[in-house]
Amino acid sequence: KVVKMKILNAIQLKEVDQLTIAAQHISSLELMERASFALTQAIERDLKDVSGYSFAVLCGSGNNGGDGLAVARMLQDKGAAVQVYLLKASRYSDDNLQNQKKVHPDFIKSFEAGQPPEISKDAIILDCLFGAGLSRPLDESYRALIESINNHPNYILSADLPSGLQADVINAADAIVVKATKIYTFHSPKLAMLLPQHQEWVDKYEVIDIGLDPQAIRQQHVDHYYVTEQWASAKLKARNRFAHKGSFGHALLIGGSYGKIGAVRLSATAAARSGCGLVTVYIPGCGYTPFQASVPEIMVLTDSNNNHIANYPAIKPYTAIGVGIGMGQEGPTGTAFVKLMRSLTSDTRLVLDADALNLLATRQDLMANLPPNTILTPHPKELKRLIGEWTDDMEKIEKVQNFTSLHQVIIIVKGANTMTVLPNGGLYFNSTGNAGMATGGSGDVLTGIITSLLAQGYAAEDAAILAVFLHGAAGDAARKEWGEESLIASDLITSLGKAFQHLRS
Ligand code: ACO
Repeated sequence: KVVKMKILNAIQLKEVDQLTIAAQHISSLELMERASFALTQAIERDLKDVSGYSFAVLCGSGNNGGDGLAVARMLQDKGAAVQVYLLKASRYSDDNLQNQKKVHPDFIKSFEAGQPPEISKDAIILDCLFGAGLSRPLDESYRALIESINNHPNYILSADLPSGLQADVINAADAIVVKATKIYTFHSPKLAMLLPQHQEWVDKYEVIDIGLDPQAIRQQHVDHYYVTEQWASAKLKARNRFAHKGSFGHALLIGGSYGKIGAVRLSATAAARSGCGLVTVYIPGCGYTPFQASVPEIMVLTDSNNNHIANYPAIKPYTAIGVGIGMGQEGPTGTAFVKLMRSLTSDTRLVLDADALNLLATRQDLMANLPPNTILTPHPKELKRLIGEWTDDMEKIEKVQNFTSLHQVIIIVKGANTMTVLPNGGLYFNSTGNAGMATGGSGDVLTGIITSLLAQGYAAEDAAILAVFLHGAAGDAARKEWGEESLIASDLITSLGKAFQHLRS
């Protein structure tokens, strides 16, 4: 059985901590020790050997501070030079106090929030002031402290969350928050870390497994998930050695217009590189010669119109269809699109992208023609045309969820941590990809991968989520070769093989 990674909120995490303690017959101090050990190991792995480094561990009064004190001790044991800076408080959590006693007092300096400590420029800061327990925004008395951390010239590592970021809400644009070089977050990323609105505070992060009780996690009701490599590998279907090309479906991609035939070429090539048996494109006449000459693996049907699509093909022979890539919205194209929408049956497996979405936004009556689980892949402007404006990321999520459940479709909201939202409101944040993928044609490649997986018989929700994961993984592989600036959409296609192979290994 494939286990999906749930994104738990702060209250659920507290409850799961308690249930884990009960189920595994351990104390909360032992759970803290386990979390701190896992964090120490991750830091050690990143720095290769911690013994040559000095650390300034900033600890708060709660259990995040307790984790910090335990990590400080563990880093010291590994030969690192460690100084703990402990925030003065009227009350410390029990496990924090226990861990204070385990660090020699010579290595602990207390400080007031309003008087930030002097930290050596050579030290790596480990920020353990506040984690998921931050229950309200930090007030002005913390500004000088957090600013001094953010101005630190060396690495800034945060445990669980960058201090000042509340886990489950929209944080104000002027919130006082640590800007970490890297966040080591326990169990699963917190919702706030995945929202574009918080991009100023979240760059690199790693999820640290702390062995929370699976049964306790199962009990938690969530509709937010994080797509892991483990999930993606388990979902990838085996390929039968006796299979033939007919076993893997036939994808049809409809799109292109004069000057934008390349978009269909990117989609179709990505589809062919994603495992489907046959790929056909339906494009305007002007694309025939360049297409046939450059991509021999793909079959080409042409519209009677030379410059844009003015008709639509029979869709029966195909096991999945992707529509809209580079298509334009010329008058006859719009009419052909309406006719195509009216020719769909409830079992048509469909992806709509780009101009198909723009046309759909102007004709919302056509939503009723969409087969259940149709996949829509809007970029932000296309999304606004479909669902209207939003004031913040939470409202955007809510509006997308309302839209998907009303129309029984799947929406892929593209961006960092691309969100796939299902008809039941389930929301999947992707874990792969990078800013190099913000380049023309990247979305066309994604549409090709989704259509290919749909054509092969993947359930629509798996096709959408897995395609997004593979697309991002191909981007990560391409970045290794090209860097972010030089990465172009074609590189994603040539790197798809690496993404598939990695999941199979
Ligand atoms: N300004 C100033 N202080 C604040 C603010 C604010 N805006 N908001 C909260 N605080 C203070 C409060 O005093 C609060 O403590 P209280 O709720 O007891 O009054 C404290 O900061 C909370 O800070 P955190 O250390 O972030 O919260 P918590 O103690 O819940 O710890 C945790 C967070 C559990 C460590 C989390 O980061 C995590 O998952 N760690 C990994 C697992 C682990 O180590 N668990 C701990 C052992 S098991 C157990 O705790 C049951």
